[in-house]
Amino acid sequence: MSKVTVVGAGNVGATCANVLAINEVANQVVLLDVKEGFAEGKALDIMQTATLLDFDTVVTGCTNDYSKTADSDVVVITSGIPRKPGMTREELIGVNAGIVKTVSENILKYSPNAILVIVSNPMDTMTYLTLKTAGLPKNKVIGMGGALDSSRFKCYLSKALNAPANEIEGMVIGGHGDTTMIPLTRFASYKGRPVAGILDKAVLDKVVADTMVGGATLTGLLGTSAWYAPGAAAAYLVESILRDQKKVIPCCVSLEGEYGQNDICIGVPVVIGKDGVEQIIDYKLDEAEMALFAKSAAAVRATNDVLKEINMLS
Ligand code: 2OP
Repeated sequence: MSKVTVVGAGNVGATCANVLAINEVANQVVLLDVKEGFAEGKALDIMQTATLLDFDTVVTGCTNDYSKTADSDVVVITSGIPRKPGMTREELIGVNAGIVKTVSENILKYSPNAILVIVSNPMDTMTYLTLKTAGLPKNKVIGMGGALDSSRFKCYLSKALNAPANEIEGMVIGGHGDTTMIPLTRFASYKGRPVAGILDKAVLDKVVADTMVGGATLTGLLGTSAWYAPGAAAAYLVESILRDQKKVIPCCVSLEGEYGQNDICIGVPVVIGKDGVEQIIDYKLDEAEMALFAKSAAAVRATNDVLKEINMLS
């Protein structure tokens, strides 16, 4: 029996629960929200699709009752406020840090062995905060950003190549910020052919630029931040954990010397399986890529430093 809790039944959390149910990734999914009746309503709505979509996963909702989340194998934390048009993810830190810290404390009271998947923004810093405060080993704290950004990268590449997205390989590492993410064009390929040899430089540059502001573009269009791809990206990580798929997924994890960095959580390619982070893969970046990574890490570290200013890391 596998059990997943999704904290936050807003757009991203509910989408994640929905994808987990449709794909029968877990036997049981618990949605938890602070807003009275909200998670219960979302869960009931999802369950009313079970016969239409033919799934057996049982989705339930609860209002801030962490006892209902007991013995979860994986917990996805989406709580906090989303960004509005014109805002950066980093601006959310003051509000979201307190929420994410409280949520992880409550979760671990009832599911001390859970693997945590962090979605709340600023995602790299919320992952770092959780790693530093929850007392979990580093393999059990995973930030979702790179899975989402890589999916957006492949989507833009598929449009540029006029090819199916799932025939394309592509990876985004670094921070999950408009200026910190690093789409690795050198490693991107279409059926084994490097995309740099297929697409003009100007087209590839535009793919990179569009990927980096992928979230901001949607925030502008929707008036709030995106949910289908973020929710599905979190569910994709959960699936690789629960089914022990050992997929290589770029995601935000604690680095201890890898990629030349220490004391930071940031996006790198990781083998994700039943133990959470099972291996960090070394992609042998060239000098220019390493320089971009170091710059991205410096920006993430600057946001992490705010945690001390607001007394979140004592
Ligand atoms: C995004 O990029 C929500 O950060 C998320 O859409």
